[in-house]
Amino acid sequence: MSWDLFLSLLLVCVLLYLGVQLVRFVRADGDLTLLWAEWQGRRPEWELSDMVVWVTGASSGIGEELAYQLSKLGTSLVLSSRRANELERVKNKCLEISNLKEKDILVLPLDLTDRSSHQAATKTVLQQFGHIDILVNNGGRSQRSLFKDTSLDVYKEIMELNFLGTISLTKCVLPHMMERKQGKIVTVSSILGFIGAPLAGGYCATKHALQGFFNCLRAELTTYPEITVTNICPGPVQSNIVHNAFTEDISKKLENVGSQEHKMATSRCVRLMLISIANDLKEVWISEQPFLTVCYIWQYAPTWAWWLTNKLANRRIENFKNGVDADSSYFKPLKKKTN
Ligand SMILES: NC(=O)c1ccc[n+]([C@@H]2O[C@H](COP(=O)([O-])OP(=O)(O)OC[C@H]3O[C@@H](n4cnc5c(N)ncnc54)[C@H](OP(=O)(O)O)[C@@H]3O)[C@@H](O)[C@H]2O)c1
Repeated sequence: MSWDLFLSLLLVCVLLYLGVQLVRFVRADGDLTLLWAEWQGRRPEWELSDMVVWVTGASSGIGEELAYQLSKLGTSLVLSSRRANELERVKNKCLEISNLKEKDILVLPLDLTDRSSHQAATKTVLQQFGHIDILVNNGGRSQRSLFKDTSLDVYKEIMELNFLGTISLTKCVLPHMMERKQGKIVTVSSILGFIGAPLAGGYCATKHALQGFFNCLRAELTTYPEITVTNICPGPVQSNIVHNAFTEDISKKLENVGSQEHKMATSRCVRLMLISIANDLKEVWISEQPFLTVCYIWQYAPTWAWWLTNKLANRRIENFKNGVDADSSYFKPLKKKTN
């Protein structure tokens, strides 16, 4: 074979390879390490069955779906959030779809902002199951309001819930894991834990705080190699998060929730979360395009990211004011409210 032919063939192979990788990236719904773990890594079915998992925010959305998928794996569950009736509904469905028995699921109502109750709640879990393998810090609320309109009380409350509530519960569970020298602390942050977007300053601050905190905690636990810390960063996912979001005033509900259909399916997000937990990944991004590309730009080319975010910010704000869901509105034309 001549050199020319060889080099042409090599070029075709390289172009083909790059083309395949490009198509894979366009279709990706998680960061590349996570998708590699999905393909080649440990299966949740092998790693997580028979564990005791405490899920906060288990009455709705991601936490609810997590309870269903974990129950099918055979894990014992502690389901926590404020609404006991909703937790009972989730428990009953878990019993219906899995082989778990009544004794395997503890409904434990808990308000993350009531920090004085967290120690007693931890004691209750330990009395029932003897140990906690995995704590999933998932409970939380988002925000849709501009800083200029938002009361400081909202920032205080969202910090109390998303940040202080989460680290308070972690502080109660961690000594037990340290005693056993094993455990997994999983925190549902957000892609807003490392990028910025208008209308969510308080929420974004809490998620940045969580990322910073848990990255430090991981570094403090290096002498406990079997205690792992995983930060999960989802992009837009179907749930009640927008419905439950804080607005400019503590007691005001969001008027325009908008359609959530364009968002990632909750079941897919949770499957990728389980893969992340089974593989002890330190930080994962779970998001469809174009948000996944935005994550990569924020991580590796922040100057471009700031330029892009500024370009799109007004569109997001205007669309939000017109009742279009803020997460979709970056990439859609302005649609005026008809009334
Ligand atoms: N969906 C998304 O697009 C998305 C994207 C990135 C990150 N996340 C994160 O995912 C997590 C779950 O949110 P989701 O999307 O599933 O929203 P969701 O459907 O609104 O669920 C939120 C959960 O948090 C619980 N919660 C709220 N306030 C609480 C409190 N004071 N104490 C204890 N639990 C409380 C709620 O239960 P009760 O009302 O019964 O208390 C509910 O179970 C959140 O941390 C959120 O920031 C979501």
